[in-house]
Amino acid sequence: MDPALLARLRDAVGADHVLTGGELAAWEVDWRRRWHGKAAAVVRPGTTDEVAAVVRACATHRVAIVPQGGNTGMVGGGVPDASGTQVLLSLQRMSRVRALDVDNLTLTAEAGCVLQTLQEAATAQGLRLPLSLAAEGSCTIGGNLATNAGGTEVLRFGNARQLCLGLEVVTPQGEVWDGLSGLRKDNTGYDLRDLFVGSEGTLGVITAATLALVPRPAATLTALAACADLDAALALLRLARARLASGLTGFELMARHALELVETHFPELPRPLPPTPWAVLLEFDDAQGESTARERLEALLAEALEAGTIGDAAVAGSLAQADAMWQLRESIPLAQARDGLNVKHDVALPVSRIPAFCAATEAALREALPGARLVVFGHLGDGNLHFNLQAPPGQEGADFVAAREAEVNRIVYDAVLAHGGSFSAEHGIGALKVHEMAARKPPVALALMQRIKAALDPLGIMNPHRVLPPAGG
Ligand code: FAD
Ligand code: MLT
Ligand code: ZN
Repeated sequence: MDPALLARLRDAVGADHVLTGGELAAWEVDWRRRWHGKAAAVVRPGTTDEVAAVVRACATHRVAIVPQGGNTGMVGGGVPDASGTQVLLSLQRMSRVRALDVDNLTLTAEAGCVLQTLQEAATAQGLRLPLSLAAEGSCTIGGNLATNAGGTEVLRFGNARQLCLGLEVVTPQGEVWDGLSGLRKDNTGYDLRDLFVGSEGTLGVITAATLALVPRPAATLTALAACADLDAALALLRLARARLASGLTGFELMARHALELVETHFPELPRPLPPTPWAVLLEFDDAQGESTARERLEALLAEALEAGTIGDAAVAGSLAQADAMWQLRESIPLAQARDGLNVKHDVALPVSRIPAFCAATEAALREALPGARLVVFGHLGDGNLHFNLQAPPGQEGADFVAAREAEVNRIVYDAVLAHGGSFSAEHGIGALKVHEMAARKPPVALALMQRIKAALDPLGIMNPHRVLPPAGG
């Protein structure tokens, strides 16, 4: 790295927070261990002004910046490329909760706050931050907003975008935009907040956010139900919506082979239901309290059993049992990672098209890749499936991905588009899906995005080659 830039970075954040040697894998390798980059330096600012100074220094020297939060992203957008020229900007030291306004139902926090810490801050005030994902113990709110994360409560509360009322952002020129509004209504021109949410570090650095909170429900109950097929799972969703209304906060789907993979890698986890082609995990919030909630949930499941929609069900009798049910669901990505590198999909579909999509795509994949193991699970309530493929037994995951990923993606994404879906529901584009953007995003939409990128980041220093293919090919 240019010594003049290095000196400016050290001036900006302190020499202890500019790392250029030693063990940098925690920042250079992604969670899936799929991308292995090399940073010119890892820079760890502690304040918004320090972020701005770092960005100005990099802009002067035309050096690219890759923002990073908890490094739990699934699409390789938060690690540097292999060139050794990019500055990895870690937001982890920016971890202060700036304000919690109980009457306004808002929380303002810095970008590096770990999601779970913010959930706990809300809980301590009798409130709730309704964004939940298995990585919540290490992902950051800045990363959640930069990826517009989804998770397990989207069907009731929306994704990270819906929870974001205001942002503070450092622009690619190193200016600070203070948009930390806690307003629910503010029609004063273009919505800059929504431009930065989901931009994956390509338009600026999110340094803080104001988030909407909700009251905590009097009771939350969790249940597992067994379905013979996806039509039955959809029938259960219809019934749950009708009987539980807005109390239904989670409706997660797990295929038998996904749970088998969990059993292989986490044999110690309890299995509340016998094996079933599809298991559904339901989460239900009730304002009336525990006994009414239990009555309503049990009545729903009894009705579904009676109708033959489900074959079996279990309602958690305690917090520990509810946690155990969620652990099964949340261990699926961990089991996949332990099993080896795999081909991951994060697709959105109209909920009504999911049975037809799955039947057609599974058949096509089984024909093209005999022996490959399908691991299907996801957020059925909001039409988001993880339609993943693990290498055939005995084959190295990395070899499988290198040899077959392009073909698998073509089969899956052709089917997704044919069924009216999207090739990225909640994980974003990162480095993984830039090719799909070029090939499948409508050209006018792509051109508009490229113009926005060029207008906001004319030097192209913010997370280059991520999200968008270069303009003009
Ligand atoms: P990082 O991985 O550090 O970065 C992600 C992207 O955001 C990168 O492009 C990076 O450059 C950019 N970025 C990060 N911070 C900033 C910032 N402050 N300003 C500007 N850009 C920034 N995702 C879901 O949506 N739903 C799930 O259910 C879900 N479950 C997961 C389960 C597991 C076990 C794991 C490992 C991941 C899961 N994810 C899920 C993916 C991941 O947790 C989310 O994408 C999360 O929002 C990333 O946050 P992070 O802080 O780790 O971001
Ligand atoms: C999940 O829903 O568990 C995540 O999005 C992670 C994954 O897709 O592996
Ligand atoms: Zn998911």
